[in-house]
Amino acid sequence: MVVDRDMSVLRFLDEEFRKYGMTFEHKVLGESQIATIEPENVKTVLATKFSDFSISLRQKAFYPLLGDGIINADGELWSHSRAPLRPQFSREQVADIKSLREHVNHLIAALPKDKTAFDIQELFFRLTLDSATEFLFGESTNSLSPNSSPASGPLAACGGERGFADAFPLSLGYFIYRARAQDFILYYVDRVLDAKSNPKHQNPNENKRYVFLEALAEETRDRKILRDQLLNILLASRDTTASLLTSSFYYLPEAGSRLRQEIIEVFPIEEKDSITLEKLREVKYIRYFLNEVMRLLPPVSLNGRIAVKDTTLPTGGGPDHKSPILVKKGMRIIWPVWHMHRRTDVWGTDAHEFRPERWEEGVKKGWNYLPFNGGPRTCLGQQYALAESSYVLVRLLQQFDILENVQPEITLPRYKAYLVLSHKDGVQVRLWSSSFSRSLRE
Ligand code: HEM
Repeated sequence: MVVDRDMSVLRFLDEEFRKYGMTFEHKVLGESQIATIEPENVKTVLATKFSDFSISLRQKAFYPLLGDGIINADGELWSHSRAPLRPQFSREQVADIKSLREHVNHLIAALPKDKTAFDIQELFFRLTLDSATEFLFGESTNSLSPNSSPASGPLAACGGERGFADAFPLSLGYFIYRARAQDFILYYVDRVLDAKSNPKHQNPNENKRYVFLEALAEETRDRKILRDQLLNILLASRDTTASLLTSSFYYLPEAGSRLRQEIIEVFPIEEKDSITLEKLREVKYIRYFLNEVMRLLPPVSLNGRIAVKDTTLPTGGGPDHKSPILVKKGMRIIWPVWHMHRRTDVWGTDAHEFRPERWEEGVKKGWNYLPFNGGPRTCLGQQYALAESSYVLVRLLQQFDILENVQPEITLPRYKAYLVLSHKDGVQVRLWSSSFSRSLRE
């Protein structure tokens, strides 16, 4: 994962892959680096020779904010970190539709319904923060709600009602607000630890919903570990899911009518409360649509590792570019998923076109399709992200039957922030519902 504000790295790599083929070595600031879009090589780094590679510079760069949490940990520390988290992501507790419902209601209430154009990205960033904080801490930042905010202290400590919503992305960029972001998490950690050590103290989670932090506090009572893990998962979940949702709206006008039709067949407009995870999975086209969005605009578009010992990659060397290549200890390997997902020899001559139907025609997902990474470090929140995004799509397409993308011109989105792809100029849309217009006339 790299910092790339204007996609200049991806553009540069475009040229280089065209000139040198699927795997090449080049110098970056005097250091040798291998760039590859060969699935076999990426599989080797992420799975077959997993322990020959580390997460590279990320650890040092993000330590002040992310500490020893899972995203930032390597080796032994990482495996100790991942083991207790895994069960928390098992299917049953993935994306609680009931609590999502309230946040999507707030989103729908906040959307202009009079055909005014607006940037939907900004609202998706708030939505995914609200839903992730609810899932992780049992209490939401409620940044989309017009009149409710969490009852207690951390938002004040973060600088006002929307303070955390603002401090969090800023802290990713500059670390300036990292203490605020960490204090926010510690407030909930202390509250849960207090309830666990003093059973007489009232448990704030009276309805006994699943709360990630409480479940994790059964595994460890270490305050710093809990803080680091929760902040890491918030980082991993929030921007990525907002990116997927925003890019979905970027492409919706192209596939929206089929998507809406298939959604309405299973979830009629008047049945807003009948949405379940099982039924969401029934609408296969939602999955094809999301797969295609993540193929062309993968939220994590570029990733990398560093070799911790001398090792080899299976292909890309020699005159025929098919022989194994030597990777010296300390060498960096990068694989731009962005380019892997656009290879015409893998995806066909229409690789650059948005066409969800290709998934229906039996495209195989393997090491050539890696929006969630692969191998032992694969994304833990994949099911959560897909469930949340599917639910949001269903609710919004139930609600609105006309959707226009009103981008000044459909240009390639540019990176706005760090780490995760977002649309520099937002995604400007206009939504309209004929049922609203009917009710306005009546
Ligand atoms: C569309 C949404 C998402 C995408 C595209 C995505 C993608 C990724 C990728 C590419 C990685 C690997 C990073 C690396 O090791 O270099 C990752 C790791 C991770 N993701 Fe996600 N993610 C998404 C949503 C989520 C959500 C919603 C959660 C949690 C609720 C989550 C939790 C994690 C965790 C904990 C890791 C670290 C796994 C480890 O290092 O062992 N992700 N994700």
